[in-house]
Amino acid sequence: MKKLKALSACLPFLFLFSCAQQQHDNKDKGLETRIDNLLSQMTLEEKIGQMNQISSFGNIEDMSGLIKKGEIGSILNETDPQKINALQRVAMEESRLGIPMIFARDVIHGFKTIFPIPLGQAASFNPEIAEVGARVAAIECSSVGIRWTFAPMIDVARDPRWGRMAEGCGEDTYLTSVMGAAMIKGFQGDSLNNPTSVAACPKHFVGYGAAEGGRDYNSTFIPERLLRNVYLPPFEAAARAGAATYMTSFNDNDGVPSTGNKFILEDVLRKEWGFDGFVVTDWASASEMIPHGFVVDEKDAALKSVNAGVDMEMVSYTFVKYLPELIKEGKVKESTIDNAVRNILRIKFRMGLFENPFVDEEQPSVLYDTPHLEAAKRAAIESAILLKNDKGILPLNGNVKTVAIVGPLADAPHDQMGTWVFDGEKSHTQTPLHAIREMYGDKVQIIYEPGLAYSRDKNTANISKAAAAAAKADVVLAFVGEEAILSGEAHCLADLNLVGAQSELIAALAKTGKPVVTVVMAGRPLTIGKEAELSSAVLYNFHPGTMGGPAIADLLFGKEVPSGKTPVTFPKMVGQVPMYYAHNNSGRPAQKNETLINDIPLEAGQTSLGNTSFYLDAGFDPLYPFGYGLSYTTFEYSDVKIASSQLKKQDVLSISFSLENTGKYKGTEVAQLYVRDKVGSVTRPVKELKRFTRIMLQPGEKKTVTFELPVAELAFWNIDMVKTVEAGDFGLWVAGDSQSGNELVFKVTD
Ligand code: GLC
Repeated sequence: MKKLKALSACLPFLFLFSCAQQQHDNKDKGLETRIDNLLSQMTLEEKIGQMNQISSFGNIEDMSGLIKKGEIGSILNETDPQKINALQRVAMEESRLGIPMIFARDVIHGFKTIFPIPLGQAASFNPEIAEVGARVAAIECSSVGIRWTFAPMIDVARDPRWGRMAEGCGEDTYLTSVMGAAMIKGFQGDSLNNPTSVAACPKHFVGYGAAEGGRDYNSTFIPERLLRNVYLPPFEAAARAGAATYMTSFNDNDGVPSTGNKFILEDVLRKEWGFDGFVVTDWASASEMIPHGFVVDEKDAALKSVNAGVDMEMVSYTFVKYLPELIKEGKVKESTIDNAVRNILRIKFRMGLFENPFVDEEQPSVLYDTPHLEAAKRAAIESAILLKNDKGILPLNGNVKTVAIVGPLADAPHDQMGTWVFDGEKSHTQTPLHAIREMYGDKVQIIYEPGLAYSRDKNTANISKAAAAAAKADVVLAFVGEEAILSGEAHCLADLNLVGAQSELIAALAKTGKPVVTVVMAGRPLTIGKEAELSSAVLYNFHPGTMGGPAIADLLFGKEVPSGKTPVTFPKMVGQVPMYYAHNNSGRPAQKNETLINDIPLEAGQTSLGNTSFYLDAGFDPLYPFGYGLSYTTFEYSDVKIASSQLKKQDVLSISFSLENTGKYKGTEVAQLYVRDKVGSVTRPVKELKRFTRIMLQPGEKKTVTFELPVAELAFWNIDMVKTVEAGDFGLWVAGDSQSGNELVFKVTD
């Protein structure tokens, strides 16, 4: 058996940390001099101008006037290279000091070539997919002059009602940390001053994903310990990965809006993590501290945000309007302004914008380049999650002569791209219908009857046509889910069932007695238990992007084998939410054999059902757990061993296991390592993901794989608010999802 040392996912960003820090240390010796020289020539207005970002309003004349005055440091949402160069030329040649602007855009999962939404990329459990996706996005957007993106979004999210779960990497701190660091590496490349490098902007700092009720922009109430153990680590990993900028989040946490929160912006980000780039507010989040009731007016908003550590204000203009006055009144020190401008200039210098401020308008287009489309297809393949496959109905084999392609997402080029797509064009989207026709039309006869026009369609008049098509087919491929607009910013749902008449559609298809393969495209986990029950197979895709069609086609017909795993827990019912695997145990944890609502005897006595933590009508378990996903083949874990079960805090835990492909298809398994700290000075989660790795095996092949986990990575913020490893008993599991595997125990001693 080949020995494989799983490239522990911790390596990349530890490596990055040393590189990034080294880079900064070496260059900044000369750099700080350049910054100070420039700063010493700047007027107060010019300094404040660098701290001001506007959103392009198209009128070049008017924007040029502001630039000439030195009132603008950055412009977002301009993507025309000629306009970008024209505006930059004004800054370089017609403003007093010729300081270049930085042009920004939300390039969250692709610029023109659209990759799966980040939640989908997370489902691949493959940091390379995230890095390549970000690199392709950077190459494409920098080719039009965009050198700053507001990504990665690394808000841990445990409530699928929240529309922005689509934009992040799911519920797990470690998975989000690894994927976020990989995206930063992809966006920024090897050096910020490479013309294809795009400054990353980890967002939304911090805790935004815990919006109460899963309702966007809502308050969060995260105690510092939970903030440090769950929500901050991905942002710390981003700092280690050398992120150039950060964005503050809209939410107030425990009453303090992030845009006015000195604790996170100064104490944590700068003093603890040593971040030396710059912080931008979210869209108008400075002035939105007025409706928050945290500031009196715009002047107070400028005061509170700049004194908390914000360097640049996105679009609300309070800095330009009020900072001169606030400095005169002694409420804001000029040194605070100087520091903010230093942070901004440091990134502009590092990006080489002073030397190369313009984009080459003559360069051949790289948009939708074939390698980009191929990378996007690879990402969509690895992001797809096989949730069910009864009787091996998938992959479709030679016995399948006729397929009925049904459902509103079979040919939905706009919606397939998912949320946060400003520049991707639906004309380039390859849908499942077209891909199956093109790639497999010679193997199967295709009958296409959408049945519904779009996901929210309640008009059931054409469901009978879809059912009739199904009746003529050997297998029904039903494409359902969510239109893109139903997830993303401000797009939250109180009900996670399939919208419109999609459920009726699935029921009508199942009634024909033909096997139904349900293919979902959505921006979040949906409560599809009923539809899954009626389906022979379920393939789940978090909006797969431009190349989702060819990816899904190859998966359905067996040229590719699904390997994705759920990056979030799928609840049975929305009432179970928030629901996540790394939960605390409580004093009365649910038992396996709880009595559920249909089994309760009449007039049952008050205490007859037991007193544990679960729902009478939904039980305790999810529909699908975190880290879950099937393959066309099967895998067997065995010989899970710990090199030593007695460890000191400075030791490295070495866990080896064998993995065998016991099926008949080549496949890739995402092996996961979970650890539990059984007793702590505060209660600890029942499990936490600490490593994962993708292992490709031929049928019958068996490999021995090793995870290396420094005991130091078991540290957490404890009762004394100190980050430390506490001695005691631990459990660990190696498995293909968060609910499987046998526990092994080990001890850490002082
Ligand atoms: C939005 C989003 C943020 C985005 C910014 C600029 O409101 O919250 O994620 O980057 O504005 O578009």
